[in-house]
Amino acid sequence: MSERTLVLIKPDGVKRRLSGEIIKRLESKGLNIIGMKLMKVSEEMARKHYDVHKDKVFFKDLVSYITSGPIVAILLEGKSAISVVRTMTGATDGSKSAPGTIRGDYSISIDRNIIHASDSDESFMHEYPIFFSKNEIIEFQYGDEDLF
Ligand code: CMP
Repeated sequence: MSERTLVLIKPDGVKRRLSGEIIKRLESKGLNIIGMKLMKVSEEMARKHYDVHKDKVFFKDLVSYITSGPIVAILLEGKSAISVVRTMTGATDGSKSAPGTIRGDYSISIDRNIIHASDSDESFMHEYPIFFSKNEIIEFQYGDEDLF
């Protein structure tokens, strides 16, 4: 079933110039990019995005990290996009994520783990309006759907 998901290439991913590599992997898999931008995250946006973690000891660090530099926000559409992208992303802790996953190949820590991806449709519905307005979502058919 076609789904949408949100990916954020976090400040460490952007600073390490991994954006192209990550986008290449997501596109090659057969996911359609329907929104994408380089942007700064305000403290208000960060607090909303990580609302579910507000009582955790690391909440303050999460907010300061995601606001510490530009991110690349990407909206993707495709078959089972949420679970497919989570699988490609790998386990949260980069020191435990499998080789071949994005975190498994490029991260060795839990708090500098390069990428965020929505973990459910509920999370996606909460997260994506923080980063994209309606007119930034480009609805179109790539025309190669029969190849994937
Ligand atoms: P993310 O997928 O962006 O969603 C929540 C983030 O919290 C997660 O990636 C991790 O980077 C971060 N996180 C989870 N557990 C810890 C922890 N124990 N210490 C610091 N950060 C954490």
